[in-house]
Amino acid sequence: MKKKIAVYPGTFDPVTNGHIDIVQRSCELFDSVSVIVAKNPSKSPLFTTDERLFFLRESLKHFENVDVNSFDGLIVDQAHSINATVIIRGMRAMSDFEYEFQMALMNRKLAEDITTVFLVPNEKYTYLNSSIIRHLAAFGSDVSEFVPKVVKDALREKYLKNKGM
Ligand code: COA
Repeated sequence: MKKKIAVYPGTFDPVTNGHIDIVQRSCELFDSVSVIVAKNPSKSPLFTTDERLFFLRESLKHFENVDVNSFDGLIVDQAHSINATVIIRGMRAMSDFEYEFQMALMNRKLAEDITTVFLVPNEKYTYLNSSIIRHLAAFGSDVSEFVPKVVKDALREKYLKNKGM
């Protein structure tokens, strides 16, 4: 039988436990899941692509059917290149809907053979996003409940360095 391959694109600046929850759900649904650090032209990430890849690889290494890569182009092109037929996106709240709906329809216009699937993370992550994490960390708050340890440590280092400490 043909393998069901999914891509899970995002900026992941940085990866949070909410993203990991989505990856876990995806792994149970698809034969393989390719997490893609993609480019959102309207964002200027705090962490470099290599740093974001490292955090994701460290956080997801216990999943056997997951790989992590970056791609600087249209996500549908990356999906085609690895024979993926599904794009996964997390849907946390109604506020995500309009943007996600537009993106799903545009991706379908670009590639009719690729379907966007929305997954809902555990409700304890619905209010999480990467900006909030960066914000909290910048003020020295403890973010260990929301992100993997590798991210927590990197945030602490980044903001201590920025303060010249
Ligand atoms: N848990 C916690 N946070 C989550 C989450 C979850 N399950 N799902 C989404 N988020 C947060 C992210 O952390 C991010 O937070 P931030 O805005 O504070 O940084 C926010 O929700 C947006 O999610 P993200 O997945 O990072 O989306 P994005 O809008 O930055 O990324 C791309 C969009 C990269 C997928 C899109 O621009 C893309 O596909 N780019 C490639 C080029 C392309 O194909 N463009 C055409 C698209 S039609």
